[in-house]
Parts: sequence; structure tokens; C-alpha cells
Amino acid sequence: MNPTTNTHSKVRQMHDAEPYPNIPIATLPQDNLIDLYLYNLVTSYYLRNRQVISTQGKVILDAGCGTGYKCLNLAFANPGAKIVGVDFSEPSIAIARERLQYHNIADAEFHVLALENLPSLGLQFDYINIDEVLYFLPDPVAGLQAVKTVLRPDGIIRTNFHSSLQRFVYYRAQELFSLLGLTESSPDKAEFDLTRGIMHALKEDVFLKSMIWKPQFQTDDQMLLQNFLNRGDKGWTISQLFSALRDADLEFISMVNWWQWDLTQLFQNFDDLPVDFMIRLAEMSTEEQLHLFELFHPIHRLLDIWCGHPDAAQSSMPVFQWTVEHWQQATVHLHPQFCTPMIRDEMVDAIIQQHTFDLGRYFRMTNEPVTLDSTIAACLLPLVESPQPMLALVQRWQQIQPLHPLTLESITEWEAFDRIKDLLVYLEELGYVLLETGRSG
Ligand SMILES: C[S@@+](CC[C@H](N)C(=O)[O-])C[C@H]1O[C@@H](n2cnc3c(N)ncnc32)[C@H](O)[C@@H]1O
Repeated sequence: MNPTTNTHSKVRQMHDAEPYPNIPIATLPQDNLIDLYLYNLVTSYYLRNRQVISTQGKVILDAGCGTGYKCLNLAFANPGAKIVGVDFSEPSIAIARERLQYHNIADAEFHVLALENLPSLGLQFDYINIDEVLYFLPDPVAGLQAVKTVLRPDGIIRTNFHSSLQRFVYYRAQELFSLLGLTESSPDKAEFDLTRGIMHALKEDVFLKSMIWKPQFQTDDQMLLQNFLNRGDKGWTISQLFSALRDADLEFISMVNWWQWDLTQLFQNFDDLPVDFMIRLAEMSTEEQLHLFELFHPIHRLLDIWCGHPDAAQSSMPVFQWTVEHWQQATVHLHPQFCTPMIRDEMVDAIIQQHTFDLGRYFRMTNEPVTLDSTIAACLLPLVESPQPMLALVQRWQQIQPLHPLTLESITEWEAFDRIKDLLVYLEELGYVLLETGRSG
């Protein structure tokens, strides 16, 4: 058997025996707004192109979909899109199919297929999710290349690798249990019991135990399997990730959790850093800055990215460079994931009760609270129903707050304009609102 077939069959056997994830079919993804926000095609498309697209009619692939929980997330996050799930594990696909039927997602189809054979489907996709899969492939670049052939010209791929720096102790554990022969055939109850027995017997301060053993491994077979008895898991560095993208001729768009890779957050006071260091930082590429972050602070299990075809980004001017004319022709969108009846009701409640509205409680990309006072919430309320011209929000602000609270003089249109502009710059940076301008250049 050649090494690729051998790795494939080991990984497939592992997932046939223990389809992943073992989340109950009835579980709804709706409570986890940050996940839906990130699964929403609008988010990554806007990050790359500064344009807000409709998810209606889009075709989304979940490659290596396992038991389909992420397919369900993708379906909820992208109304009107078709979901296609592919995995080479037949038992996993059976559960995925059942899951989407259970939740009445009609426009979904599933195929038992290796990711490398995706072109045989004869479909092209607007968005491809390859979540927690690539690190199992014997040749991830070949996998990415196969996936790229079914990606539409302006399509986006979300994918991830395990971080070798963050996960190095788990790799040591996997090597150890492989040395003991526990991963030769598909690990089952006997191997789980033996692994737990060995870990239990270790003294608490033995490095392997003190670093990575958690109570949940005592009871959760799947977690134990994925972390200690995994048969295909591999770790990657940022440099290896970027080199794989180059080899597959794909262009990096962003880290999926980009706000958690911010170097400035690692320092007590970024502004006090040695000037020489600041100069070096400013000269570094995105790849180098991410690499540096990981060397300082390897806390992320996944190197989770969006990428796409080279040069697919539409050129657009960043919001901080917009002129008055750009703003005058701007349309403001609340991110569609926030346009829900629940959020509308909570905003209305804050307005009536004159409480602050805590936007950050749905999710936050900053350590600071994200609260809006009730008058600001009142101004932004129409955005829950539909996008609004920036100038309509300016007019609405003048109606809500006609007088300056200190001087009691009338608020001028320019004062209102500046107030709303500053607010929108802040909310756009945090990902809550999306801004498009009709003005080109
Ligand atoms: C850890 S699970 C992740 C499942 C799902 N993407 C998620 O994040 O919930 C990995 C999945 O990838 C599938 N897989 C691994 N290599 C594959 C390949 N070459 N072709 C198709 N599926 C593959 C496995 O069968 C398994 O269901």
C-alpha cells in the first residue's frame, strides 16, 4: 500500500469508528453568534473586497464535513445558499445528511468522496469550508490544489492547520502512544482505557500530564482520540502555512480570528516600545508579523485562514482614507448576522428604557466594552431592517439630538455628520457595520 493510501485509510477508519463531531443532531448553532458571523460569506467577502454581497443562490462546499455540524452553521449563516457536504467517511456523511434533514434544510446534498477527487463532482463553489481537515492529508498542498480547481474566480476558502508551536505537547503524546502500539489499528475502548490508565497513574507534576491532561479526557472518547491517539495529525508553522499557499497558488486574505493576532495587544504599552523595534515591525510583511506573534504567544490551536485566487480582491479605498464625498455616497449595513428580531427587540427595549445597548454581548473583537447609549441605538435602529444611506442616519441623528446638550444650540448638519462618521468608523473596525461607497477612486 502506498503511504498516501495508507494514511487515508487510517484517517478514514478513525472517523468511521468515531464520526466527528459527536454533537447531537438536534443541537442548533444559533446561540453562537461569533461562529455564525465567521461562517457568513458576507464577512470574509467584505474583508477582502469591501463589498456586501447577498448569500442568495451562492453554492457552499463543506469539504471533510464529518457529521455536518459546520454544514448546519453554514446553512444558518447563509440564507438562500446551497450547501454541499463531502467526506470520505460514509458513516459521517450519513449523520450529516440526517442532521440537515432534521433541521429542514432542503437545499443540501452530500457525497461520500475524498477531497482530492472534488473535481469529479462537476460543481464550482463560491465558498469552501475545509475545517479541521487539512492537517490529516498526506499532501495538503495537493489537497488545496484540488480544492482550488472547484473554487469560482471570486470564491473564498476557509481552512486551517494545527499549530505545531501551540500543540507540541500533544504531538509528543501522540508519538508516545503510537510507540506503545495503541494507534496501530483503529483505537477503541481497550486503547482508551489503557491511555486513561497510564495518564491517571502518572504523578501530577510529570510534564506531559501537567501540561495537557484535562478532566474532559477522562470521559470524552472523541477528545481523547483526536488529541492523544490521533493517527494523522500534523502541526504547521506560519511559514509553512504561507509556503503551502504559495505552492498551491492561493492568496492569503486574513486570519479568521484576525483580532486575536494583533501584535499591539501583546505589550503593556505599545506606544512605549523601543523605536528600533517599532521600525522593524512596520517593515515586516503580514506573514512575518503573524510569525512573530506566534513566536511571542503561541496560544491558538488553529492557524485558521481565509484565502482565494491570486488578485481576486477588488481594489477599494480603506474607510480611514475616505473623503467627505465618499461618505456622502456611503451606504451603511449592519452585518446581516445582527439583523435579527431578537437584536431588534433588545435595541428597542434599550431605547424605551433609556439604557445603554450592549452590542459587545453578542460578540466582541476588543477587550473594551462595546456599548451604545440609547440615543445612538435609536439612530442605528433602522439598520436592523435594511441598509441606510449614511446621510439618512445623519438626518435621523439631527432629529433625535437636535440641540447640543451643553450649549443648547442647534446641532449643525456638519456636527451630526462628524458624529455619525466617527461612530461608523469605530463600528466598522469592530466588524459590526459594513460600509460601501458609491464613489469610485
Ligand atoms: C476532525 S474531522 C472535522 C469534521 C468537520 N469539518 C468539523 O470541523 O466539524 C475531519 C474530517 O475530515 C475527513 N477527511 C479527512 N481526510 C479526508 C479526505 N482526504 N477526503 C475527505 N474527507 C477527509 C474525515 O473523515 C473527518 O470526517
